[in-house]
Amino acid sequence: MSNLVLIGPMGAGKSTIGRLLAKALSRSFKDSDQEIEQRSGVDIPWIFEKEGEQGFRARETAMLAELCTQDHLVLATGGGAILSAQNRDLLQTNSLVIYLCIPVAEQLKRTAQNRSRPLLNQGNPEQILRELMAVRDPLYREIADLIIETDGGAPQQTAQEILLYL
Ligand code: S3P
Repeated sequence: MSNLVLIGPMGAGKSTIGRLLAKALSRSFKDSDQEIEQRSGVDIPWIFEKEGEQGFRARETAMLAELCTQDHLVLATGGGAILSAQNRDLLQTNSLVIYLCIPVAEQLKRTAQNRSRPLLNQGNPEQILRELMAVRDPLYREIADLIIETDGGAPQQTAQEILLYL
């Protein structure tokens, strides 16, 4: 059975909603960022600092290549997982891709709670999130089978909405 792949910006709730969907559907849940950290024994800020964004992207592609060959998963991806054509192909293979689309103001609120996202420490977070969305929103839409517009409501509600489509 195919994988459910959650894509969308930082703060969209991919991991929280992914866990809820996995539970409801009795599937395994995997989070590509968490897998990268668990396997490497270092965290994402460390990878960005020592290897740059390019190093992180290489690890991300390797991880997605592995996870996307599995079956019956709910997979939460990092916000930039859609940037390369190679990743977009991987994410679309044997999967239903769900784009969790959330306004920048809400992304900002949710990501302000921790500093584990190196891209947001490079300047004004709101401006960065806007610029990232301008580039990425068309890419999210390009590969999405389902687009769920959330405005910061409860994750349980969003998960229920997704379940209705499956
Ligand atoms: C990134 C998003 C992060 C993580 C990394 C880069 C991005 O994941 O992969 O910091 O490029 O948007 P989340 O979307 O889970 O925060």
